[in-house]
Amino acid sequence: MVHGFPMNHAQWENQFLHFAALGRVIAPDLRGLGQSHIIGDDAVISMEQHADDLVQLLDELHLAEPVVFIGLSMGGYIAWQMLRKYPKRLRGLVLCHTRVVADTPEQAAGRHQLAAETLQTASSLKIESVMLPRLVSGSADSAVTSAIRQMARSSTPAGLAATLRGLAARSDATNLLPGITVPTLAISGEHDAISPPAEMSAWATTIPGSRFVTLPGVGHVSPLEAPAAFNQLLTETLPWLTGTMSR
Ligand code: MLT
Repeated sequence: MVHGFPMNHAQWENQFLHFAALGRVIAPDLRGLGQSHIIGDDAVISMEQHADDLVQLLDELHLAEPVVFIGLSMGGYIAWQMLRKYPKRLRGLVLCHTRVVADTPEQAAGRHQLAAETLQTASSLKIESVMLPRLVSGSADSAVTSAIRQMARSSTPAGLAATLRGLAARSDATNLLPGITVPTLAISGEHDAISPPAEMSAWATTIPGSRFVTLPGVGHVSPLEAPAAFNQLLTETLPWLTGTMSR
């Protein structure tokens, strides 16, 4: 389970126990975030680097068999690099609230500005104020907002800035979609402002044999905002994703 930005493994806190009963769950903190620290203020952590890190983690855990990769937003951007570089490590894909396009020049510039302000103020507050209104729906519980703030504050300014620069540098992945051969579930949220359902469905339905579901009433982080609906959907789909049940 690969979290989004500016979060960490705790983004999946409502999934660990539920899915640990069904299989092995691995939910790391990506390089630069949570407890995975980096050194230096001017790093750029690319999506490819994250994919390399994840494969190294699997190797260190002696997990040679392919996994079901569940990525949320930035986790989905990393899934594209897994598909490009390590397709044999994938058994199924769950793409939650994510995008295939690169940043526009304006979006990328905004991320660089945010990285600079985060370092200058040595604080995640600017990231929280810019991103939170777009991460959750208007009706999200305040506990969800607090959990996201807490996750943002658990990372160092250097790690947050390096991740923002990596997000700004990511490339378009549209050309990978028709070549995906593993079972793929794409999950969107009715009120997602970052990866809206119409945008997600337009690309997700070009993945051969994929399933696309929009969860009602939620924003960009459904595992936190609607854990029961998210867990039920994933539980129902898991036999198909792991290849133990045909479509
Ligand atoms: C995320 O949740 O990972 C971010 O919203 C990704 C992004 O800002 O593009």
